[in-house]
Amino acid sequence: MATQTLLQHGKLGMGTWKLGDSSATRTEEIAALRYGIERGIAIIDTAEMYGSGRSENLVGEAVAPYPREHLYIISKVLPQNANRRYLEQSLDASLKALQTDYLDMYLYHWRGGTPLAETIDTFEKMAEKGKIKAWGVSNFDLEDMQELLAEANGSHCRANQVLYHLGSRGIEVALKPWQDQRHIPTIAYCPLAQAGALQRGLTNHPAVQQIAAELNISVYQVLLCFTLSQSNMVSIPRTGKPAHMKEIADCLAISLSAEQFGALNQAFPVPDGRVPLDVE
Ligand SMILES: NC(=O)c1ccc[n+]([C@@H]2O[C@H](COP(=O)([O-])OP(=O)(O)OC[C@H]3O[C@@H](n4cnc5c(N)ncnc54)[C@H](OP(=O)(O)O)[C@@H]3O)[C@@H](O)[C@H]2O)c1
Repeated sequence: MATQTLLQHGKLGMGTWKLGDSSATRTEEIAALRYGIERGIAIIDTAEMYGSGRSENLVGEAVAPYPREHLYIISKVLPQNANRRYLEQSLDASLKALQTDYLDMYLYHWRGGTPLAETIDTFEKMAEKGKIKAWGVSNFDLEDMQELLAEANGSHCRANQVLYHLGSRGIEVALKPWQDQRHIPTIAYCPLAQAGALQRGLTNHPAVQQIAAELNISVYQVLLCFTLSQSNMVSIPRTGKPAHMKEIADCLAISLSAEQFGALNQAFPVPDGRVPLDVE
């Protein structure tokens, strides 16, 4: 079904939640996304939910000057639309806002009441029509993934997008290893812990601050370098500012040493056992 896989487009993408919400910052946000594309970031993540289409609309304007085949565009369908009655309408609206005739990946934003078999079947029909190249899910915990893969064509799932950052490593206990064994990539959302806002004590932790000083980078870059160092994972930080996008793109050329990685592991260990999937 998919011609080129997600991971073939790199380990770094651009999140777009809240972008397009304010006309005052629109020009700067478009400049930030275009700067990212110019730096070779092909993956862009949006959703019908974000600003009720305003994010998709902004992404459509931002990517318009670039060859479509150089980009990897992800959007998401809301649970109430992830069924045979409404999914195609949602998808068509997303395609229109994005000014494109296909999505590289379409995600089920979070699990709702529709039987998984119906959502899978409808995704598959959209793929047959050429409107999507691949589909995946978001906010699915291990049991959801096991149920999904037990359904006919469930194994066509090409990613699970979940919350993951240095201060929230619960997926490393069971979900991520399970996906890794099955070559299902994890898309890490909130890799910057929303600039630290999701967890007090993350960006001002001495281990994070010391590594930032050693590498002469920002604490946010330390957070991103941590998620970028994970295998079978794509990170999708969001910024509406070109200067921040420069810091984000620069992370692709920065590696944490084994000692630095060890210090982060010690400061923010993987939980001892399973914890509920963190969501935002
Ligand atoms: N599937 C889901 O349910 C789900 C849920 C949440 C998010 N997502 C996706 O994941 C993406 C990322 O998550 P997120 O947007 O919640 O949070 P995030 O990427 O962890 O953090 C975004 C925040 O970091 C700031 N920031 C970015 N680069 C920075 C830098 N270099 N220095 C300082 N601050 C910086 C941004 O502000 P500035 O704009 O000022 O730079 C923004 O406030 C979303 O945009 C969305 O596409 C998916």
